[in-house]
Amino acid sequence: MSDREILKRELEERTKEVEALIEGYLPEESGDQKTIFEAMNYSMRAGGKRLRPLFMQEMCRLFTGEVLDTVKPFMAAIEMIHTSSLVHDDLPCMDDDMMRRGKASTWAEYGEDIGVLTGDALMMYAMETAAGAFAAAQDGDELARVGQAMGILARKTGVYGMIGGQTVDVELAGGPIPKDKLDFIYRLKTGALIEAAMLIGAVLGGAADQDCKIVESLASKIGMAFQIRDDILDVEGNTASMGKPAGSDEKNKKTTYVTLEGLDKAKKEVERLSKEAAEDLDKLGSNEFLESLIRYLAGREK
Ligand code: IPE
Ligand code: IPE
Ligand code: MG
Ligand code: MG
Ligand code: MG
Repeated sequence: MSDREILKRELEERTKEVEALIEGYLPEESGDQKTIFEAMNYSMRAGGKRLRPLFMQEMCRLFTGEVLDTVKPFMAAIEMIHTSSLVHDDLPCMDDDMMRRGKASTWAEYGEDIGVLTGDALMMYAMETAAGAFAAAQDGDELARVGQAMGILARKTGVYGMIGGQTVDVELAGGPIPKDKLDFIYRLKTGALIEAAMLIGAVLGGAADQDCKIVESLASKIGMAFQIRDDILDVEGNTASMGKPAGSDEKNKKTTYVTLEGLDKAKKEVERLSKEAAEDLDKLGSNEFLESLIRYLAGREK
């Protein structure tokens, strides 16, 4: 078996574990507001690569050698927030996409009103879920780390993070965007949640402040590479294997890294950023799986 095949198998296995963990945090579908629970679970169970919880888990492993109990609720929470961002991103007033994770987008399945509420619900349920980590803390130090992680999760999701980035993204859609503005958008709309995932894994794992800085910076590079690759796939990718419509950016007249710099340069940039991030990771310790994963994602097809 080639190294790539070995990694793919390991990735599949770990993704299944993450999937099972997330499942345990999903709400029960009962009560008068049953519809919202159904729509939340529909969106969460549709699939997805589960990369953010995986990044969080592996970063904690790097610093502690294990997956701490305080990290588990945050793993579910970051996937809920990421999913909420996709639910809103697909709405007719945003990217107007009808397919996500191989199924009808949440709004296409449940209607626009429930689509809006499902994004809201997942975002808040994520905070409620993450707060469960306080009960898992063993001592005062761990309690303080959970508090810090809650702050990171909120900030990287909100106006200084993903929502801030999406705001500039939709505001500037349809017209030209200079490179520095595009970098700002990518750093926030996509980078911030990947930074949150890795940084929370490190913080809960007790990493020193200077190591946390390295983690945040390498996660930012991964985020940038991830979004540029997403732009490339929007042009070159296949709707069936991605589980979301190719050509969405063209439809929405989006300025992307590809329209601005061209496919060749975009691909080189993804390689460069991923290589740098993997090298930064090496400075922190050893997690071969995570390092290979970062390099692998540079050529991902979905
Ligand atoms: C899609 O994220 C949105 C971007 C930030 C580019 P993913 O590619 O991680 O989506 P899922 O979770 O696998 O569906
Ligand atoms: C998404 O950017 C970023 C989010 C915060 C959801 P895109 O709009 O390119 O993501 P996809 O291609 O729809 O997944
Ligand atoms: Mg979008
Ligand atoms: Mg979109
Ligand atoms: Mg896209």
